[in-house]
Amino acid sequence: MKDLNKFIESVKNNQCVVGIVGLGYVGLPLTLEFCGKKLKVLGFDVDSEKVETLNSGRSYIKHIPSEKISAIRDSGYFEATADYSRIVEVDAILICVPTPLTRHREPDLSYIISTAESIAPYLKAGQLVSLESTTYPGTTEEVMIPILEQGSELKAGEDFWVAFSPEREDPNNPNFNTSTIPKVVGGHTDECLKAACALYDKIILRTVPVSSCAAAEAAKLLENIFRSINIALVNELKMIFHRMGIDIWEVIEAAKTKPFGYMPFYPGPGLGGHCIPIDPFYLTWKAKEFGAATRFIELAGEINTFMPEYVVLRTMEELNELGRALKGSKLLIVGLSYKNDIDDTRESPSLELINLFEDKGAYVEYHDPFVPVIPKTRKHMHLAGRKSVELSSITNFDLAVISTKHSNIDYSLIAENCPLVIDTRNAVSGSYPNVKKA
Ligand SMILES: NC(=O)c1ccc[n+]([C@@H]2O[C@H](COP(=O)([O-])OP(=O)(O)OC[C@H]3O[C@@H](n4cnc5c(N)ncnc54)[C@H](O)[C@@H]3O)[C@@H](O)[C@H]2O)c1
Repeated sequence: MKDLNKFIESVKNNQCVVGIVGLGYVGLPLTLEFCGKKLKVLGFDVDSEKVETLNSGRSYIKHIPSEKISAIRDSGYFEATADYSRIVEVDAILICVPTPLTRHREPDLSYIISTAESIAPYLKAGQLVSLESTTYPGTTEEVMIPILEQGSELKAGEDFWVAFSPEREDPNNPNFNTSTIPKVVGGHTDECLKAACALYDKIILRTVPVSSCAAAEAAKLLENIFRSINIALVNELKMIFHRMGIDIWEVIEAAKTKPFGYMPFYPGPGLGGHCIPIDPFYLTWKAKEFGAATRFIELAGEINTFMPEYVVLRTMEELNELGRALKGSKLLIVGLSYKNDIDDTRESPSLELINLFEDKGAYVEYHDPFVPVIPKTRKHMHLAGRKSVELSSITNFDLAVISTKHSNIDYSLIAENCPLVIDTRNAVSGSYPNVKKA
């Protein structure tokens, strides 16, 4: 039998055991927060290598120090497992598994589905299940709940609580962390909402309740669609202003002095990461069911997807000015992760750039202090295993393309020692005739 007061009490007096499914960029920071508040966490992951690494007190994510993992393990607050039968040991289950797109750019819910199928046989009355993975409105109630109910013979809302609470993690953001970013929560019923808010209130400064799981699912998509569209807008303006001889970066610096009605977004070599290039298309797919078009999303996707090609075209244009060809040139990609100062290469436009430049006959190497070796990625398996070269080898290259602006790279060294530098991030400060923006 479920008992809301008992559940809330168990959170308050730290007796509630939290199960976190998916120990990745989202699941691990959540784990640290709960352990920090002295709640026990049992982490579940299908990747037994990650389970082993974490249980031996080591982190596999660069911006999460191993000391933090060994501290929560040594204090007895954390253990990782690949054994789903241990779901019976926890009171709340937070699901943080990937939600990518398929090869045909449709939502791939296979991770959510297989997680729900694995949990269902062990689900108990009185547990809370909260989905955190980004997804289209309707996933929690139309996809996850039926699997949980069928496999457990329990009823959502009556025997166990269900919520959707999107993750807003921004890895390595110096100004915000898991606990200080407000968290939107939607419940399957009012009681589900109360149970979920009680749990999240323990670790988050401000929870933001909404009326349904679907509203919470939609709120997350709105945030990421907003980013995708605004990035597309500055990418388009970048191409237009370039033709006019105007520097988009200077324009943004000027525009952002307006104290209201404007917020800066920055152009780049294309979208990267697990969220912005992917999430908007979850809505596009779902909208079709309602006969609705998502024209803004499609247009933004078109412009942002074109950016790596634009960088290649600009590079060829600048080489042409020097009377040289891309074919046969030795090219260094500077920065492999999709954003500054992290080691995450998922959907990174740098990987796409390597492909495009190599297709045109260039010899490509890369430098990234955060990514010593290219990991396996779903889309670019053939690049896995390649190693970062030292920046001191810059003089061996005909040109460099800066695609990520890390704070620990000496960009003036690149500008001073390479005949041509294509800067897609406004990373080089000062004026060098051989540095061209793209
Ligand atoms: N990374 C971010 O900054 C971020 C921010 C906001 C939202 N999100 C969303 O959060 C979700 C998770 O993203 P992430 O970046 O943490 O992914 P991730 O790949 O870093 O971690 C997911 C983990 O889930 C594990 N996993 C996969 N299938 C599983 C299963 N059936 N059972 C147990 N574990 C399983 C994987 O092995 C992996 O360790 C996604 O929906 C993503 O869109 C991510």
